[in-house]
Amino acid sequence: MLKKYSMSIEYVDICCGLAWGDEGKGKVVSQLSKEGEYDFVCRWAGGNNAGHTIYVDGKKYSTHLIPSGVFYGIKSIIGPGCVLNLRSFNEELNYLKENGFDISLVKVSPRAHIVTEEHIEEDKAKYEKTIGTTAKGIGPCYKDKYARTGKQAIDYLFDLEKHIWDEKLHGKVLCEGAQGFWLDIDYGNYPYVTSSTTLPYSACSLGFAPQKIRKIYGAVKIYDTRVGYDPDFPERLYDNEELKTIAKCGEEYGTTTGRMRKVNYLNVNKLIKSIKISGVTDLIVSKVDILEKLSIYKYYYNGKLLCFNNLEDMINGIEEVLNKECSEYLKEIIYSNNPEKI
Ligand code: IMO
Ligand code: MG
Repeated sequence: MLKKYSMSIEYVDICCGLAWGDEGKGKVVSQLSKEGEYDFVCRWAGGNNAGHTIYVDGKKYSTHLIPSGVFYGIKSIIGPGCVLNLRSFNEELNYLKENGFDISLVKVSPRAHIVTEEHIEEDKAKYEKTIGTTAKGIGPCYKDKYARTGKQAIDYLFDLEKHIWDEKLHGKVLCEGAQGFWLDIDYGNYPYVTSSTTLPYSACSLGFAPQKIRKIYGAVKIYDTRVGYDPDFPERLYDNEELKTIAKCGEEYGTTTGRMRKVNYLNVNKLIKSIKISGVTDLIVSKVDILEKLSIYKYYYNGKLLCFNNLEDMINGIEEVLNKECSEYLKEIIYSNNPEKI
């Protein structure tokens, strides 16, 4: 047996989205950062297309790129698989500094790719209307990365010097997912997807072996939402009065773009698939309070819309199938009825 070095990685926990983004990942990561003993909180993919809302001491903050560790004095890493727009990165740093947080904790991998103004222009011209992207230049930047013509953070040392990451991960690590399973480039409804790998296995790009993974927290809402164009979420969903009341009560508009989200009842078959392939050990189901407020207890299973009289019956129904289908890894299910904590 080899001796463990003191600077080795003890374990890695990952939080990922199980739907189309906006599943409450920010809340989960924020609480884990606060209560855990993590040495690093890291983002492994995406850029400022994400929008994470978190509450610190009752005050609401929104971030797009910088991981939530910074709110709790933990080193926050933007990994090599991420894309970074210098202007919005600096804006976010200023926002954090103005609010009294220590921005020297924020580090960027020298291999992260840089989103340029040209990438943003291309996104606006070609993809914003057709795919409904966030128009942040994400797709065009990844296109250059994979064509091997992109620019990396290391090429911008002058602008980023203080924030370039020059150490190895060690100790306890938390990885903060962006987007969600059904926005993944390989698993989503292509081409109505984002341009990165949102599944938790991709967190290994940060520099650890899969064997180091301890827990995978999967975030989902008790109803489905979608921003951006997707034929699986047709326009007529906007006309359904019941779904409209859920959208209003749940304040379903995007934190990054301000667009109204389309709402549908939870698709349990899709949830099962995303839990299984992601390897989720702990499931966090958010916004339970919204359905309770409205007394709407419905979900789709095997193509049928099932209706229940109360929350308990609905949850029992969901748990019965999850226990049957996902028990290999899934050990814990938490229902959250609070926007600030799990
Ligand atoms: P968080 O991390 C919800 C969606 C866009 C669009 C598609 C492609 O807050 O959950 P992109 O700009 O990435 O090329 O757009 O992906 N999308 C998100 N939807 N939450 C997100 O992030 C998203 N990031 C991208 O709406 O349909
Ligand atoms: Mg979002």
